[in-house]
Amino acid sequence: MTQRTLVLLKPDAVRRALVGEIIGRIERKAGWSITALELRTLDGSTLEQHYGEHKGRPFYEPLIEFMASGPVVALVVEGERVIEGVRALAGPTDPIAAAPGSIRGDFGTIVRENLIHASDSEESAIRELKLFFPEH
Ligand code: PPS
Repeated sequence: MTQRTLVLLKPDAVRRALVGEIIGRIERKAGWSITALELRTLDGSTLEQHYGEHKGRPFYEPLIEFMASGPVVALVVEGERVIEGVRALAGPTDPIAAAPGSIRGDFGTIVRENLIHASDSEESAIRELKLFFPEH
């Protein structure tokens, strides 16, 4: 099942110079390919649309503030079961719960600064890809 997913390498990944390491892990998965990639600073409107479903939750404001705190690297990754696969590479939201070998397990510190976002379903991927790469 070939899919496309949106991946964001969050501001902590860029600040800590982990972009190459994380992209390398994605590139090493056989059969996956990166079909778009861009460094960009996200504005309030994009972040509100992207994280709208979480509005009102206690982590919403800190999350938006963090995601606007520096540039992110936005990627489109295409390949076999890539939606589930990138989330498995990332590990669970809380780095403390993430196993060694996963991106968050190897490099994560606190929940808010968990290095990577990846679409969580086909519906989310379609919506997020439209928001971040409407021309793609
Ligand atoms: S849920 O309940 O499963 O929908 O939530 P979850 O997927 O775990 O988290 C939704 C997004 O919020 C981020 N998050 C946080 N940010 C800052 N602080 C805290 N405490 C926090 N908890 C969760 C989490 O990383 C998710 O964002 P993305 O960009 O998808 O990783």
